[in-house]
Amino acid sequence: MSQRPIIALDFPDRTEIEAFLTHFPKDESLFVKVGMEIFYQEGPSIVYWLREQGHDVFLDLKLHDIPNTVERAMTRLARLGVSLTNVHAAGGIEMMEAGLAGLHKGTAAGAQVPDLIAVTQLTSTSEAQMHRDQQILTSLQDSVLHYAKCAQTAGLQGVVCSALEAQMIKEQTNDSFIRLTPGIRPEGSAVGDQKRVMTPQNARQAGATMIVVGRPITQSASPYESYIAIKEAWEEQA
Ligand code: C5P
Repeated sequence: MSQRPIIALDFPDRTEIEAFLTHFPKDESLFVKVGMEIFYQEGPSIVYWLREQGHDVFLDLKLHDIPNTVERAMTRLARLGVSLTNVHAAGGIEMMEAGLAGLHKGTAAGAQVPDLIAVTQLTSTSEAQMHRDQQILTSLQDSVLHYAKCAQTAGLQGVVCSALEAQMIKEQTNDSFIRLTPGIRPEGSAVGDQKRVMTPQNARQAGATMIVVGRPITQSASPYESYIAIKEAWEEQA
């Protein structure tokens, strides 16, 4: 089954999220992304509330700490009933394994363990910055690929990556390894601060398995229509 496009709920508080969701039919089950801004404002209750409304949640907190801390944090996050969450691959294989172990520990008996994916190099990082700030002296592509393989070795289900890297990651890992890509813009919509964007159709062709879409839906005058158009464009290529 093709995954629904994930809607990035980049709003400052729950009131705005509630207002945004009134644009959707009550029985439309969405896959939404809860990021740091809203989670740090509202806490776990926002996740419980979204789950009660019938939505699936990608909790995008990008954990990066010592393995013990990540394991304990993931044990807590697993209890929220999210479908998907993430860590930074730069934390290392041991840290990613610990994150996965925490998710397994924290998931209630009989419930689905959340998928865990890794952020490789942030798409805001240029190769020059990576060389200068991280002292990683390979190409950006090689670094992304290396991190993807580390994530696979640790047993994670996939990575967050640019659509431009999705095909290469697919070839070097496997077909079912999640390649979740942001920076999606339907034909003719505003790019905003994103530098390298792709349409949903092109992202699919480039090897993405899941897409995250924010402003083209959240800032739209007709959010539901925009969502359905993006969903259809994405599914058309499946
Ligand atoms: O509004 P827009 O569609 O650009 O939102 C994309 C979402 O994906 C935002 O929540 C942004 O923080 C997130 N994201 C991204 N690039 C990454 C990782 C996450 O745009 N590399």
